[in-house]
Amino acid sequence: MKLTVRSPSNIALIKYWGKLGDQLPCNPSVSFTLTHAFTEMSFELCDKNSSEDIELVFFFEGLENQKFQDKIIKFILKEKEYFKNVLSKKIILNSKNTFPHSSGIASSASSMSAMVYGLLALDFKLSHKSDEVSSQTFLNLASRLSRLASGSASRSVFPGVVLWGDYKDIGTNDCAVDVSHMVDSRFLTFRDTIVIVSKNEKSVSSRAGHGLMENHPYREVRFQEARKRMDELLMAMKNYDLEAFIKIVEKDALDLHGLMMTSEPSFMLIEAKTIDCIKKLRTFRERTNIPVCFTLDAGPNLHVLYPIEYREEVVAFLTQLDLPLIHDEVGKGSEIYE
Ligand code: PMV
Repeated sequence: MKLTVRSPSNIALIKYWGKLGDQLPCNPSVSFTLTHAFTEMSFELCDKNSSEDIELVFFFEGLENQKFQDKIIKFILKEKEYFKNVLSKKIILNSKNTFPHSSGIASSASSMSAMVYGLLALDFKLSHKSDEVSSQTFLNLASRLSRLASGSASRSVFPGVVLWGDYKDIGTNDCAVDVSHMVDSRFLTFRDTIVIVSKNEKSVSSRAGHGLMENHPYREVRFQEARKRMDELLMAMKNYDLEAFIKIVEKDALDLHGLMMTSEPSFMLIEAKTIDCIKKLRTFRERTNIPVCFTLDAGPNLHVLYPIEYREEVVAFLTQLDLPLIHDEVGKGSEIYE
């Protein structure tokens, strides 16, 4: 049995930074699901050669990758009750990304959601529940299990604007939810151009970063502020209030990096060029009145967000920065490709 899944990365507008227990977020987060930055993972099931609990081989871009293989095996064995049928087979995984390593695009979000979506779809097919694949129950379970593999991966399963974390009667910590219907539809065609300031490896993993929130002096203020900001952002997105949207999104990106800088030990992922680009972007916005803003992931690269109708002007401006650019846009979420 064979299957190929494509699952996109996502970029958070309100960030998840700090977790509790079994990958539960300390505050709700919301993101744009992307389109062109995705993981394509192929799955092949064949007869098992041994009586081991799991027989799995993992190839990344054509080469066997022991580190990822061990991580995936550990995850599947922990959640084995959901993968009973696939575990009776030998599993061969082949994965590749459409975006370069360390490009400021979250590869754990796309790869972990692709892995879970594919294995779950195969498990459903083997138990004669093919027609339930991509049902709401299936998507919620895929999002929940993706969350257990990598928190932000829970959001990649769904299209458009996606919220994850306890929030009023809208969101839960358990799995993410598509909130695209709550925002003005013009956000669903938004563009995200990524400015590659540096391709250096992250000096601190997101796991370690989340850990540093445990004793952070601004911990409670951050979680309270993020919740309040979620109210304001959803309101701005409902009313297509771009001025408010820009203010909130930039503030949350800077908060994330501020929290990193004031952690114990302190760390800094932005670089001088990141600040240079932010200043130039703000000057461009003031001069042209074009509603464009930036956000940052856990790294130095800028995600520049803007409405589709300004693409020519914004791309012309970004080209002058003389840095590599990756063009993306809001998209559809995980899907079976073939
Ligand atoms: O999913 P993780 O554990 O890699 O954490 C992601 C954290 C940020 O990307 C910085 C923020 C987010 O909400 O995506």
